[in-house]
Amino acid sequence: MSETGALDSLLHEDRRFPPPEPFRRDALISDPAIYDEAAADPEAWWARWAAELDWYEPWHTVLEWTPPHAKWFVGGKLNVCHNCIDRHLEGPRRNKAALIWEGEPGDTRVMTYYGLHRRVAKFAHVLRNLGVEKGDRVAIYLPMVPEAAIAMLACARIGAVHSVVFGGFSPDSLADRIVDAGAKVLITADGGYRRGTLIPLKNNADRAMEHTPSIEHCIVVARTPSTARELDVRMSAGRDLWYHDLMRDIEGGVPCEPMDSEDNLFILYTSGTTGRPKGVVHTTGGYLTQCQATTRWVFDLKEDDRYWCTADVGWITGHSYIVYGPLANGATVFMYEGAPDWPNRGRFWHLCEKYGITVFYTAPTAIRAFMRWGEEWPAKYDLSQLRLLGTVGEPINPEAWMWYHEVIGEKRCPIVDTWWQTETGAIMITPLPGVTETKPGTATRPFPGIEAQIRSEAGEEVKAGYLAVTKPWPSMLRTIWGDDERFRETYWSKWPDTYFPGDGARTDDDGYFWILGRVDDVLNVAGHRIGTMEVESALVDDHRVAEAAVVGKKHDVKGQSIAAFVTLKEGHEPSTDTADELKQHVVEKIGAIARPELILFTVDLPKTRSGKIMRRLLQDIAEGRAVGDTTTLADPEVVRRLQQRYEEG
Ligand code: WTA
Repeated sequence: MSETGALDSLLHEDRRFPPPEPFRRDALISDPAIYDEAAADPEAWWARWAAELDWYEPWHTVLEWTPPHAKWFVGGKLNVCHNCIDRHLEGPRRNKAALIWEGEPGDTRVMTYYGLHRRVAKFAHVLRNLGVEKGDRVAIYLPMVPEAAIAMLACARIGAVHSVVFGGFSPDSLADRIVDAGAKVLITADGGYRRGTLIPLKNNADRAMEHTPSIEHCIVVARTPSTARELDVRMSAGRDLWYHDLMRDIEGGVPCEPMDSEDNLFILYTSGTTGRPKGVVHTTGGYLTQCQATTRWVFDLKEDDRYWCTADVGWITGHSYIVYGPLANGATVFMYEGAPDWPNRGRFWHLCEKYGITVFYTAPTAIRAFMRWGEEWPAKYDLSQLRLLGTVGEPINPEAWMWYHEVIGEKRCPIVDTWWQTETGAIMITPLPGVTETKPGTATRPFPGIEAQIRSEAGEEVKAGYLAVTKPWPSMLRTIWGDDERFRETYWSKWPDTYFPGDGARTDDDGYFWILGRVDDVLNVAGHRIGTMEVESALVDDHRVAEAAVVGKKHDVKGQSIAAFVTLKEGHEPSTDTADELKQHVVEKIGAIARPELILFTVDLPKTRSGKIMRRLLQDIAEGRAVGDTTTLADPEVVRRLQQRYEEG
């Protein structure tokens, strides 16, 4: 949503939704006093949560804070896989469904905690036999199949550090991430289903592995055996191994490796303001503590819930709220492989009915697509099991919030609008569904134990400005993989000892936080973070392009779409074909999520006298607004010509 949209809703929003009485009565938390209790001593508060996990050795210090580096539960030893699986095997959860899965073609699988344990322990053994040791990196490039969770948990079991790469990324993007992390093993699949077609993951992986000398083995899950002949999957002898062969031949599992609370659990790459994605590093004890706490309280998670988070495991939401948070709580997680509109636009609601989903967590961009597809789709299905709805990924516009509330939640379900990031690891600002009175468009208040403020550039607390997190929190990123300087520079240089998330925010009379969106050169396209510089680098990588500038353009469903202003080198003429080829080039370099919607050719780009491209101005042009003050431009004529071109279409 645009900043002005959020502002309008903030200024005019007076609809209030207290927790519905029946919900409040049964909620795990309904007493607002817990906010004060947590604020009185946040370290003691988080230590109480950490104590809900199983530890091999207790910590001696809750928090060691030498800004910008924090260590949580120092000296403690635990294993994430043990806490997500093994410890549930003792009691009645042994035979409880841990994962219920449906593939896009309609195939289904159910794994109990016992069954999940057996597979994870065996696969951990496989990895160890291939020479994967504690601290080694393992790249995972899989569709949304149970093996994605199994692979992550198997890494955690032996102390290997996973780096999951979203299956929609290109071979180049995959290769960059493997090289940066120095991964030894790559786990992929022959293919995956998306809107009825096969995504050729192994072929992509082969192209990536031409540039990844660190990879010793590639393990391939046979996801599409009956249809995959058309994918022409080739196995390179010695390097490539079938998952099912390895699992058949291995004898038994391996136990969990006791890990230091501050040992690395995973790396996850995300976009920033430079062309190179950054490897966000998360560790063990603090991460799991906050995942467990937020999953339980934000989603009011109970033993008999059937919980569905629609994210892909390739993003942080999939890590924390499909795998680690829910399984640490012993929940039943539903996982779906494919697209929401396949074979028709009722698929999600059909799944909710079929599996009796009670808690549903998705993104505003999906909600806006559902709105556009019409109420007739959810109306065909029985959604009466749903009791709680969540959103994440971008600001939710009030119309979408109200539609979600009325059409999907049938006015019965509270909505939790959760603000957080890859870097924060877990939810930071959110309603508690049995406590908080919600308003459409605001993530409301920091989770108990979290402290946030809205600050000016100078660091004063203000009503509108930048979001700031003022105290360390357990699941915070520890560094950027291989680049601690970038970690300091990006997040900790704006104000002393305070985390800068890169978002703008406002507050209202209730003290609620209204997140307005990114204030840096990061776009949010359909809930995916994409750096403008990444797309620019992909464009100038084409031999015809001299210079490119990328901006976000308001989009009704995606929130933002990508608009690129391109200058061609001498001897190349703009044409629709060239524009299409450039779009395709970006898809090949990064992935389909980065495809520019609009390419506009220009002879020059508007720059300040110091040579900085004026993105604000380009955005005004892309969004068709009047161009503002141009006096700081080197050549104001450029803008006039650009705008004319735009208006001519
Ligand atoms: C945006 C996704 C408003 C924000 C978990 C943040 C949101 C970025 C919300 C992180 C929300 C996420 N309201 N904005 N509820 N949730 N954002 O790393 O700009 O993929 O900085 O993590 O998404 O995106 P990321």
